[in-house]
Amino acid sequence: MGAARLTTLHQRAERLRAAIRQHDYRYYTLDRPTISDAAYDRLFARLTRLEAAHPAIITPDSPTQRVGGAPLPAFPSARHLAPMLGLESVTGEDDVRRFDERVREMLGRKGYVLEPKFDGASLEVVYRDGAFLRAATRGDGEHGEDVTENVKTIRSVPLCLRSPKARPAPRLLAVRGEVMMRIGDFRRLNADLERRGQPPFANPRNAAAGSLRQLDSRITAARPLIVFFYDVLQIEDGRRFADGLDLLAALRDWGLPASPHARQAATLDDVFRYQRAMAHRRDALDYEIDGVVLKVNDLAARARLRATARHPRWALAFKFAPREDETTIEAIIVQVGRTGLVTPVAVLTPVSLGGVTVTRATLHNREEIRRLDVRVGDRVRIVRAGDVIPDIVSRVSRAHDRRRATFAMPRRCPECDSPIVQDGPFDRCPNGLACPAQLKRAIAHVGSRQALDIRGLGAATVDALVSSGLVRSVPDLFRLDTRDVKTLDRFADVSAANLIGQIEHARRPALWRFLHALGIPGVGAQTARQLADHFHSLRAVQSATEAELASVAGIGETMARDIAAFFRRRDTRRITDQCLASRVRPVETTAPARGPLAGQTVVFTGQLGSMTREDAEERARRAGARVAQSVSRRTDLLVAGDDPGSKLARAGALGVRVIDERRFMALVAGRARR
Ligand code: IVH
Repeated sequence: MGAARLTTLHQRAERLRAAIRQHDYRYYTLDRPTISDAAYDRLFARLTRLEAAHPAIITPDSPTQRVGGAPLPAFPSARHLAPMLGLESVTGEDDVRRFDERVREMLGRKGYVLEPKFDGASLEVVYRDGAFLRAATRGDGEHGEDVTENVKTIRSVPLCLRSPKARPAPRLLAVRGEVMMRIGDFRRLNADLERRGQPPFANPRNAAAGSLRQLDSRITAARPLIVFFYDVLQIEDGRRFADGLDLLAALRDWGLPASPHARQAATLDDVFRYQRAMAHRRDALDYEIDGVVLKVNDLAARARLRATARHPRWALAFKFAPREDETTIEAIIVQVGRTGLVTPVAVLTPVSLGGVTVTRATLHNREEIRRLDVRVGDRVRIVRAGDVIPDIVSRVSRAHDRRRATFAMPRRCPECDSPIVQDGPFDRCPNGLACPAQLKRAIAHVGSRQALDIRGLGAATVDALVSSGLVRSVPDLFRLDTRDVKTLDRFADVSAANLIGQIEHARRPALWRFLHALGIPGVGAQTARQLADHFHSLRAVQSATEAELASVAGIGETMARDIAAFFRRRDTRRITDQCLASRVRPVETTAPARGPLAGQTVVFTGQLGSMTREDAEERARRAGARVAQSVSRRTDLLVAGDDPGSKLARAGALGVRVIDERRFMALVAGRARR
């Protein structure tokens, strides 16, 4: 091949690489992509083809070189360019005050940089002359494991630094950051591992650390990891940074993603306000943080404060109240659910987990109790993840414990005394709605927001209605009158009339609500909607064959069989007939939907100010829209609240129209044009 031709090939490849790098920077560092995923994929494919046809032109920093290579026998050890210290960490405001006093004693009043404390695995990445050189885990702080091959596969870690005129890339740069896995990706990974019979990871941090330490970098390449950078360990002949915030800006200028939540604080009040705000946002972020970090903003002052053997004196981790703690099991009780499932529940000595007092944790089933080997009186570790019910993770064994006898599931239903039936690891009361516990749950379900939405039918009222014998079946609910309700404690003229008014209102539910209220096994609100959209009438759903049911989007063969079996049951038919006889009339939906958003697919992201996500989705549906959970090419509108996250970036890349909450309200009200 002629030298001239090789040059033009090189140039073409370099142009493609530069374009891909620029898009990576916009996507990962700025969080503001400018092209669609498909257009990006096309660019990438062009480069891949070009390099495959002419392997001589491949460069080590080409974006195609992120696929991972042959497995290593072991990780080489890597000495860090500067010690990777830990952080002093505290949980109380008083501890933060003491830290601040210490800082002020040495330096006078100083401002801070505030950042989230990322809950991942710490990483050192080194660039020489702007090129990715190597990466290492923290290890003992002096030496870590060389995980270069793995880190090369992480797309948010640039293979070469940007070098803008105002801030050229330094000759040598060692940066520190945190590797994490997004919570959604963590769940998907675990589901996938379990499907393949492999043990799942306990939390996103372990998943990130475990993925980073794979000897086979092709496995790491298949794991979606992200990195945020937050510190410079070593720099040669770079310009000096004005302060800590400017350091973060420099990282971004070089293409290294830094937290978008970094802020400046002048006073301790600012620090406390930031910590509370981040504690609030924590559940809305799609990665885990476990506190905030405050760092003296003035870099010369940092140098003067120096470090102890273990941590710098210019930084402090102010951790959130833990969501994990130890407590004691005071009793084990069993609860009977709506479907008759008998679930063991641990009653705990109350503990505060991340601001919520926890008194109970589910033990799931017989097998789980055996696996954990927990008994009354045992000390246990519990965690509360996101906003879900707390879980017992393990028993804390103590020497010389005199332990009680193991817990045995009861043989009879504690509510109706029917003999319990075992179903794999589960126990079930077979008595159906003749069991008061199941009836109460069924009535509560009928009244819940995603079913007939009967306000005022709270747990206490349901309890009273069932216990008094006024309600012995679901249709009984629609036979109540004010006089009946007034016989209950806590009810007077007005409150009784209110409840009856609410029940009256529920006599004309949308078809999907009625279907959901019936409690068909496996059918949640979403599937109920799909059934209603497909069949349009209760009669059509009741008489649908398995094959017809299975042809509905989102309904598989097993579910189709369960639904058909449910409607063949005599008791089901009796309940629906009696409801109809008590003037309950599901509103048969007519397709196609009408309304200001008819035919539009709408996605929501971020925190809305004036309503819950469910309310917003309901409004969109009433306006004729289909609501989806993720942004795709088929999305017509993205409604973005505060802290919108990655859906917004994706919408930008796909050219999906983005509106705010006010505009959305105007649209559904028909006050604005699409
Ligand atoms: S600054 C030690 N900033 O938390 C001085 N560290 O539990 C440089 N960490 O080992 C660290 N988020 O790996 C800093 N925004 C952040 C951080 C952060 C998480 C990690 C760090 C440290 C650990 C201490």
